[in-house]
Amino acid sequence: MTDIRSITDKLCSSGELTRDEIIFLLANRDLETQSYLANKASETARKYYGNTVFVRGLIEFTNYCKNDCYYCGIRCGNKNANRYRLTEEEILACASHGYDLGFRTIVLQGGEDAFFTDEKIVNIIRAIKHGHPDCAVTLSIGEKSYESYKAFYDAGADRYLLRHETADPEHYAKLHPSTLSSENRKQCLYNLKEIGFQTGAGFMVGSPYQTLENIADDLLFLKKLDPAMIGIGPFIPHKDTVFAGEKAGTLELTLFLLSVIRLMLPTVLLPATTALGTIDPRGREQGILAGANVVMPNLSPVGVRKKYDLYDNKICTGEEAAECMNCLKNRIGNIGYEIVTDRGDNINFKNRKR
Ligand code: 5AD
Ligand code: FES
Repeated sequence: MTDIRSITDKLCSSGELTRDEIIFLLANRDLETQSYLANKASETARKYYGNTVFVRGLIEFTNYCKNDCYYCGIRCGNKNANRYRLTEEEILACASHGYDLGFRTIVLQGGEDAFFTDEKIVNIIRAIKHGHPDCAVTLSIGEKSYESYKAFYDAGADRYLLRHETADPEHYAKLHPSTLSSENRKQCLYNLKEIGFQTGAGFMVGSPYQTLENIADDLLFLKKLDPAMIGIGPFIPHKDTVFAGEKAGTLELTLFLLSVIRLMLPTVLLPATTALGTIDPRGREQGILAGANVVMPNLSPVGVRKKYDLYDNKICTGEEAAECMNCLKNRIGNIGYEIVTDRGDNINFKNRKR
């Protein structure tokens, strides 16, 4: 076997590692390696995107969901969840408010809620694009057919987030009921890419039963998929789920993986997630310093925020959108970066004609 220094050198120079090398790197990581990779990773992010951090305004428009994922607080089996749906008018008002605050990407996220038919989603996409043609629209509404994805794209949606959750079908089966499969999830991602979306995949760090081998397979899957965005954040237990008593993922491993991902996929858009900010008060700042370059503050009306309850103790559920924007501007400014009013496209998509 090889040593950790030659693996980090190979990662930094080529962005490629074998499965065994990734496992060795993860198993033998130490503080020195972590800070070395964080420096290289943030340097790489700055090389392509400068000192900028892109913001996405997140509208959590429904917490109804037909799925029963074992980790998720809004799973259909959670009878304690306080369900809500925003109206089309409320969604458009949030988007306009976000626009006024400087957001040029609106992310529509929700559970898999049959109330929002393709037609309703298409109308919402069209209305946002009509009102704000310089905004990108990102969808994060789960697994749909090729035709549905195509209809959303044709209506003007630019991007789609669908975390693969775990690349290993056996691990996937431990996190989800048998109605859901890793194969279908991956097929959705390939469909989204083929249609032309800037596509985002990703996984939870420290999810129950996750092994270093699983993480290696996640990284290799991401390298192969080559998505425009990658969302990773620590697993955080939710009191009303099967995994209520499980341990949360760690800040340390999440930061380490952000750096490895930045070095494996240098131009990817990589958020410092809300979950990262939830397990540590400076988690998001540390994420940026480890190679992340996106933050996704909440634009949902304050009245529904606590209800979009994926995991316990989620931050920013009491703040207005403007407060979060100011807070983030300060936080990002304090570490020498700047939030910009920009769509923040992946550089490989910037000049691509739709
Ligand atoms: N902890 C952390 N992340 C979670 N997600 C869902 N439940 C949890 C949890 N308990 C993540 C999933 C999903 C995304 C929207 O939120 O990865 O894809
Ligand atoms: Fe919401 Fe700081 S980002 S209060």
